Amino acid sequence: MDYRAYIAERLPIEGMTAAEIAESITVPPDTSLGDYALPCFKFAKLMRKPPARIAEELAAKYPADEVISGAFAVNGYLNFKVNAKGLAGETLARIAEEGARYGSSAFGAGKTVCIDYSSVNIAKPFHIGHLSTTVLGGALYRIFSFLGYRAVGINHLGDYGTQFGKLICAYKRWGNEADVQARGIHAINELYVRFNSEATEEMEAEAREYFRLIEQGDEEAVGLFARFKELTLEYVRKIYGRLHVTFDSYAGESFYIDKMGPVIDELKEKGLLVESRGAQVVDLEPYGMPPFIVLRSDGASLYGTRDLAAAFYRKQTYDFEKCLYVVAYQQNLHFKQLFKVLELMGKEWAKDMVHVAYGMVSLEDGAMSTRQGKVVWLEDVIDRCVEKALGVVTEKNPALENKEEVAEKVGVGAVVFGALYNNKIKDIVFSYEKALNFDGETSVYVQYTCARASSVLAKAEPGWENAAVLSPNAQESDLIKAIAEFPDTVKAAAEKYEPSLVARFCVDVAQKFNKFYFDCKILQAESEESRRFRLRLTGATLTVLTNALTLLGIGVPEKM
Ligand code: ARG
Repeated sequence: MDYRAYIAERLPIEGMTAAEIAESITVPPDTSLGDYALPCFKFAKLMRKPPARIAEELAAKYPADEVISGAFAVNGYLNFKVNAKGLAGETLARIAEEGARYGSSAFGAGKTVCIDYSSVNIAKPFHIGHLSTTVLGGALYRIFSFLGYRAVGINHLGDYGTQFGKLICAYKRWGNEADVQARGIHAINELYVRFNSEATEEMEAEAREYFRLIEQGDEEAVGLFARFKELTLEYVRKIYGRLHVTFDSYAGESFYIDKMGPVIDELKEKGLLVESRGAQVVDLEPYGMPPFIVLRSDGASLYGTRDLAAAFYRKQTYDFEKCLYVVAYQQNLHFKQLFKVLELMGKEWAKDMVHVAYGMVSLEDGAMSTRQGKVVWLEDVIDRCVEKALGVVTEKNPALENKEEVAEKVGVGAVVFGALYNNKIKDIVFSYEKALNFDGETSVYVQYTCARASSVLAKAEPGWENAAVLSPNAQESDLIKAIAEFPDTVKAAAEKYEPSLVARFCVDVAQKFNKFYFDCKILQAESEESRRFRLRLTGATLTVLTNALTLLGIGVPEKM
């Protein structure tokens, strides 16, 4: 149930709609005073009364019922107490009915959201810098799908540019198919790095020529490039598999080469294209931004030109309601410019373009040896975390079966959760030790809580699914309130493009479950009724945590 809406409907405030009131209702940090609260400060001006009086007057008017058992004023806040038994009954019934779909909705039915994420560069390292875009995008993809949207996952490959001429040049000089076969992307990347450090004038000219050959469709050049692309994709797909990330389209930059013409023509027609030192640009000075370069002086297109064509293509192909770009904040200016150009072109859908910016990830253990100087490959981070997870898991439970399988879920989960737990714009310093701490705000803590719940349920006799709902005690009630927040949490995560809300939800529920587990005996409850009720609550918690972790792309081991 949407309590905020429920309360708002019964609380008329002049000059405000029910939706506005509902939006103002918060969950207080200390729920001993109330489960929901309406801060009355902002009404003071409107009503010309002190907030404390407003709260008191509203409290006196509010009709208590079987859903909200009472409303009372505390220091300018109007606090509401939820009827705990009513909430328990409703929440448990809904979880029983919806199971793996609990938290989902049809909210986005008929709407499409495009999500551009991961967007790797061919022949370049898939490094730690790609972690956030990959897992944030993957989580948003699942969250929007869960809310009924048609999500379109797009990997906007960096597969166009003069660097591919360099790569071919380097390959022809120093490379060979056997090495590429054996070491895949690492071999290709080494060639590229070597070119950049050893290239002569002559080689640069050769590289330009190879790029021209690719553009002209020369068989050999195109063939080599296709091979490099295939190898990169093969490599990244393996990692996407481990991270549970999928895409609907791999249309990268090269896909838009023949789609830029009409867009450039339209820019011209609308008088938006001006010449600046030989280049064709859109002047953005009136908006306090540098010019957006559409064509270089030699007539070549740029990253931005391709993005412009891609935006049009996506609108035409998918008719999106929103088009998200999950890209690091370093590209803030690029997207501001891009969206501004669309707006200047008179595209009303420019307002539906969203740059979902995120902060940087670095390793606490920066000294980690890599095969490529300073670049930290994402695969190495994952492998290392899984290896450490194996140690941690074995130490905790030496007799555990399928240790490798559990370690993969725990290790990958720790990397994913590490990138998703904080507000996305914050820079993150990843620490293996912290990420694998059983007692921290970590995925392994949440996974362990799930395993604990599974193990309790494994010892229970069947039938608890139909247990009668009792009036909950404090720990039970706190747990129920927490899990009841799931549907709203998922929605908020989508609205704010913030999967961290789901990650934090997981930790909150796990903490409340563990308090319940230690304070209340589940299998040794005082009465048979209470035992069954607690088992049902345990089952519901497991369902909700599983749903939440799945949205984040994290596996749930049955035993740990
Ligand atoms: N390949 C780019 C990079 O690594 C990211 C592309 C993001 N997507 C986009 N449509 N510009 O920086």
